[in-house]
Order: sequence, then C-alpha cells, then structure tokens
Amino acid sequence: MEIELTINGGQRTVEVSKTESLLDVLRRIGYTGTNKSCDTGSCGMCRVLVDGEIRESCVTPAVQADGFDVETIESLGSQDDLHPVQQAFIDNSATQCGFCTPGMLMTAISFLRENPDPTKSEVQEALDGVLCRCTGYKKNVEAVLDAAERMQGKKVASDGGAIDPNTDEL
Ligand code: FES
Ligand code: FES
Repeated sequence: MEIELTINGGQRTVEVSKTESLLDVLRRIGYTGTNKSCDTGSCGMCRVLVDGEIRESCVTPAVQADGFDVETIESLGSQDDLHPVQQAFIDNSATQCGFCTPGMLMTAISFLRENPDPTKSEVQEALDGVLCRCTGYKKNVEAVLDAAERMQGKKVASDGGAIDPNTDEL
C-alpha cells in the first residue's frame, strides 16, 4: 500500500507493506541515520519524532505514520553547521561509539521543546528511555543541560561566538 509521509519537511510517497516498521521504511528510503538495535521497542536508539512526539520507530508500523510529519536525525544540523544540541554533545564528550546518539539527540530535541530550562533530574528522567553502552549517561545529561543554556543564549558557542537564540532554534 502507499502512504504519504512528510519527512524532515519534505513530502514522500512510499510503498510499504502492512507489517513494515517505520524504522525499516526510513532506512530503506535513505534515512539511515536512525539506527536499529533491539528492534523490540526497548532501547530507544531508533527514536524519531512523529508529529513532534517521540516514537520508537522499530515498533511503529509505517502505516500508522501515514499523513504525519516525521523528524529524523537528518533534520538537524549539517557537518559544517551543527545544531546546538549536536554541538553540546560533542563539546561535552557525550558521544563515544555514537550508536545511541541519534536516539539521544531526537529525545533531547523533543524534551527541550517542551522544557527549555530543565533541571538535572528532569534531564535524567527524559533520557531514561535511551540505552547507552559507552558514556555512563553523566556526560549526556550534562550535554542536554549545556544545550538548554545555549538555546537560551546563556552561553557562548565553542567557536567563541555568542549563541543566537533567534537563529539557533530547536
Ligand atoms: S531499536 Fe527500536 S527501541 Fe531498540
Ligand atoms: S555512545 Fe556508544 S552506545 Fe551510546
């Protein structure tokens, strides 16, 4: 069957089977930044946003996303122009092997939209659903707190320039 998706702002018409997951469809049509790990909805590494809400894409049937807006890790910054949350993860050494990073970042984006000035415990709770085998979570939490400050213009960027809260949008 055919479904219509808006992926990172672009319209796509995609042929899918009834049982195909959103994750498999995204990866099949080129959005390979979203990683597959447990494939059972347990690790959070495949997280994307569907109409702004966090979804484990491995257990979301693609047909359920028909007509919805999907945001993947590819919607964030480019290599030359990183999103402030991406830059905060780098500057805080919050990514090591990087396998969980797309899920972490999409979780952080969704969370900071709802809660732009979070406490440490709120960030810990928000990241709770994404497993990371490398970092021990401390640096991830620090990165999200740092990103929140950057988004609010409380910090200067790592290149020394002031963060502009009007252009560095979530
Ligand atoms: S791969 Fe989807 S939750 Fe683990
Ligand atoms: S950085 Fe390796 S699993 Fe998180």
